[in-house]
Amino acid sequence: MTGTHSSPQRASRERSLPPFSGERPGAHVQQIVNGVVSFGVLLSLTDLGVADHLADGPRDVAELARLCEADADPLHRILRAATSLGLLRATDQPDTYALTQEGRTLRGDLADSMLPAVMMAAEPRWLEAIRVLPETVRTGRPALPQPTYEYLADNPGTRALFHRFMRTRTAPVAAAIADLDFERVHTVVDIGGGHGTILAKILQTHPHCTGILLDRPDLVETAAEHLAALGLRDRCEVVGDDFLDYVPPGADLYLLAGVVHNWSDDDAGLILQNVRKAMEATDGPAQVWCVDLLRPTSPARFGPPHMATVLDVRMLSLFSGGHERTRAEYESLMVRNGLEITWLEQFPNDMHLMVAGLAT
Ligand SMILES: C[S@@+](CC[C@H](N)C(=O)[O-])C[C@H]1O[C@@H](n2cnc3c(N)ncnc32)[C@H](O)[C@@H]1O
Repeated sequence: MTGTHSSPQRASRERSLPPFSGERPGAHVQQIVNGVVSFGVLLSLTDLGVADHLADGPRDVAELARLCEADADPLHRILRAATSLGLLRATDQPDTYALTQEGRTLRGDLADSMLPAVMMAAEPRWLEAIRVLPETVRTGRPALPQPTYEYLADNPGTRALFHRFMRTRTAPVAAAIADLDFERVHTVVDIGGGHGTILAKILQTHPHCTGILLDRPDLVETAAEHLAALGLRDRCEVVGDDFLDYVPPGADLYLLAGVVHNWSDDDAGLILQNVRKAMEATDGPAQVWCVDLLRPTSPARFGPPHMATVLDVRMLSLFSGGHERTRAEYESLMVRNGLEITWLEQFPNDMHLMVAGLAT
């Protein structure tokens, strides 16, 4: 007989598939689908400022509703759902809730608050990038009308949120960088330095250093204001330029933090070649410190995905050619552009520091 759907052989193979975590088939897929609702609960907590209102201790629903300017009944439904997600806990008092340790990270006043990460994920373009992901996969290019950094330039509110998000994400990386040995470093160029979170931490920790922050022209005014507010403006220059065209020479340290993964190998090559030219035009030895995630080489396994896997899909959805790279891919990218990695070190947030010099 031909054209049968299941031969006896195939049926026995299917029967031998192990059950998925002992749950009914489809239960795990349902859980993934439920993630959309869980995100809505998280967004409601964040947008209504629930974590901030619970910062000083438990409150009952009526009081929280008044403080959050929300309707008490729907708010209570969100609080119950947030409790089952481990963000809140119900106390012994009736209808009264407190923050869990995880829920506490949603407070807006913490240097490493998760609030901007939630608000960023809910930003219309970021949400749309996920909705149109299948189309992006078909064409290999983000199915969005404009390159992401141009969109941010045209939407100052989203740009401010993006850089607030970057500041909270980068704060632990900045601390880890500033902890390193700067004895032989005098001038640092922070390439694509954003609001200057890392440069500021370096200058605050190492008073003998001066810096140059290079970023897009639409961003540098705000970056300069941030650095001025920290009293560092007289120790750093702020340059608005395109790093695909130019990187300022004259430094002994060139920092590329969270930059390379936004770009294709060709564009990342242009940035690295500009860094190499700047290094060659500089007297004395200079180094590149590249900080990014390293994508694991081992095949993915079932479990919470590695941050590099998640961010790789984010890069795919938002940045044409942007992707997370393995260690071997970084090594080869550097070599192709006249640089070589001489040191590698694990950093916070699953990041790695890759130190590179001019290829010998
Ligand atoms: C992912 S953010 C990283 C910011 C910062 N290095 C950090 O770790 O917090 C990438 C930065 O590159 C900047 N950028 C993007 N395209 C650029 C370009 N063509 N020239 C200069 N800077 C650019 C963005 O404005 C942004 O500040």
